[in-house]
Amino acid sequence: MNFPKNFLWGAVTSSHQVEGNNINNDWWAWEQAGKTKERSQEAARHFELYKNDLQSAKELNHNAHRFSIEWSRIEPKEGKFDEKAVAHYRDVILSLREKNIEPVVTLHHFTNPKWVYERGGWLNPKISFWFSRYAVLMAEALGKDVQYWITINEPMVFAYQSYFLGIWPPGQKSIKNAWKVVHHLIKAHRIAYREIHKVYQNKQWPLPKVSIAKNVMVFRACPKTDNAFCRLGVFLRHQLFNLYFLKKIKPCLDFIGVNFYARDFISNDKKLNAPLLGMRCNESHGHVERVNALAWDCCPECLFEVLCWLKGFQKDILITENGTCDDDDRLRFDYVDRHLKEIQRAIEIGIPIIGYLYWSLLDNFEWHHGFGPRFGLIEVNYKDFSRRPRKSAVLLSKIYQDPTLIGKIKY
Ligand code: BGC
Repeated sequence: MNFPKNFLWGAVTSSHQVEGNNINNDWWAWEQAGKTKERSQEAARHFELYKNDLQSAKELNHNAHRFSIEWSRIEPKEGKFDEKAVAHYRDVILSLREKNIEPVVTLHHFTNPKWVYERGGWLNPKISFWFSRYAVLMAEALGKDVQYWITINEPMVFAYQSYFLGIWPPGQKSIKNAWKVVHHLIKAHRIAYREIHKVYQNKQWPLPKVSIAKNVMVFRACPKTDNAFCRLGVFLRHQLFNLYFLKKIKPCLDFIGVNFYARDFISNDKKLNAPLLGMRCNESHGHVERVNALAWDCCPECLFEVLCWLKGFQKDILITENGTCDDDDRLRFDYVDRHLKEIQRAIEIGIPIIGYLYWSLLDNFEWHHGFGPRFGLIEVNYKDFSRRPRKSAVLLSKIYQDPTLIGKIKY
């Protein structure tokens, strides 16, 4: 069975994780305050080396590329837009277009301008206005050459890590505030969605396709300690983490962007001091198939399951992230190949999947984990910033050229 003719095959980056010197955002301030293991500093120097990196993507047979615009570069001070920064991203998009690579542009990938942070960040009710003003500006400046937009990357993860767990800026630990932020994110997406569409209508450009990148997880009751509370915990996690946001923005989605990585087992084992509705017990109980450097499970058939329940939304689906970190490149290719098989299976039963984007094109700054986890198809040497495509990248490029090779190549 063949993949659709115009299937998008590519990889992803995000501004703060690869560009370097994003000195005007909240993450930079957080890092300088010593809250992270390592500081992003020059990251992968992608701001300077993007042409070289996009050329490598081309050579690896990518026909699509997802990246994010750094809001704090565009609007370093409230209402002051930096034309040079806009020109930079225009150039990124034109470099992609020249290579016949479809850009998929993200507007918010976890970082915020420092001035937003100082005004209360996503807790400030003005945030939807600030965000949509920036979205409109980007649509007007870049929209002629962009069809696919992602307004917000993983809104539930952002709210959870930043306002509930408190391990990302602004470091809050409040369930009430996290919930408020979720609703501000919903509102911001809805307004940005409508405003971006309006820009295209006014300019008489072909209509854009706007979505979010939704991180979805498969939750399972821990087989060792399965009980009714644990199952309730699994159910609630699925409803709240996976479905709630998507249901709230359903009319404002032209397709669904899906970031899928792994499965979590949930246990309320007393020995783990787990709460009544359970906690993740992957590492403690050891029931994961194979674990990467971040202790994530590998469950390709879980992706099939996710695609089956997303079918109910009756929208096209773009895999906006999938991948694993793997220092010696031993697991990566097999991980991707097996996930692609599941995507193929889903296409065969009529699920409208339009593309697959691997996270990530380059090794990058993995937020609070620092530079340790290596997700890149292309290895970055942080001493001299040289690049080297990994063997898995080269093998994947063969599949990107000829998807009938899925399941047939040995590493
Ligand atoms: C995020 C990326 C991150 C990746 C690996 C995704 O959820 O969008 O920013 O680097 O996961 O952890």
